[in-house]
Amino acid sequence: MIVRQAIEADVGAIARICSESWRVTYKNIMSSRAIEQGIRRRFKRKTIYQQVCSPVEWKGWLIAEAEGKVVGVGLRSRISNFHVTIEELNIDSTFFRQGIGRSLIEEMTRLARVHEAILQSVSVIGGSSTAISFYESLGFEFAYASHGIHKITREPTFVVRLRRYLESESERRLILERWHGQNR
Ligand SMILES: CC(C)(COP(=O)(O)OP(=O)(O)OC[C@H]1O[C@@H](n2cnc3c(N)ncnc32)[C@H](O)[C@@H]1OP(=O)(O)O)[C@@H](O)C(=O)NCCC(=O)NCCS
Repeated sequence: MIVRQAIEADVGAIARICSESWRVTYKNIMSSRAIEQGIRRRFKRKTIYQQVCSPVEWKGWLIAEAEGKVVGVGLRSRISNFHVTIEELNIDSTFFRQGIGRSLIEEMTRLARVHEAILQSVSVIGGSSTAISFYESLGFEFAYASHGIHKITREPTFVVRLRRYLESESERRLILERWHGQNR
């Protein structure tokens, strides 16, 4: 299995894997109308095409490829300086528990460290125990849980926010001091 940046030819696979995953993952959490609306808005091919072909430094799709096909995708982004987030992570269900999700997060983390990010977080919609176990196995910890309105589907949603530091406390302090020094 390899993990790489997405290219134009992956747009269809990203849309397919994410759409299939949303339909299964959120079926007991959101109405089917909201799921389909969310899929239409979030995984429009044109949007994914722009994200893939005109990537922003902090944001981009990663692809996991095995047996010559796309088997998992992830979208990384950032919240602020030093704070990155995982916007999407969806694995083809026939490839669950083969380390693909972990490999995608490892690559997102490597890229985040290049930009001296020190905090990584993710929202688990509906508090899925599978997703929480997955992130906890990677060292993420509970940050908070809240009820809110899903920003895409506009339906009430329960969200569990998890996070982990990417560097030790002393390294975080050094990174922040360096940044203050450069931006005084
Ligand atoms: C959550 C998800 C991304 C995990 O991907 P994956 O490739 O199957 O996970 P990995 O094989 O890398 O698992 C790494 C570790 O996470 C934990 N884990 C993964 N799936 C788990 C499950 N169903 N139950 C308990 N622990 C689990 C395990 O500790 C696992 O290590 P192990 O297999 O050596 O025991 C995948 O199940 C998925 O796409 N789910 C649907 C979409 C989703 O929930 N995405 C996250 C939204 S924020």
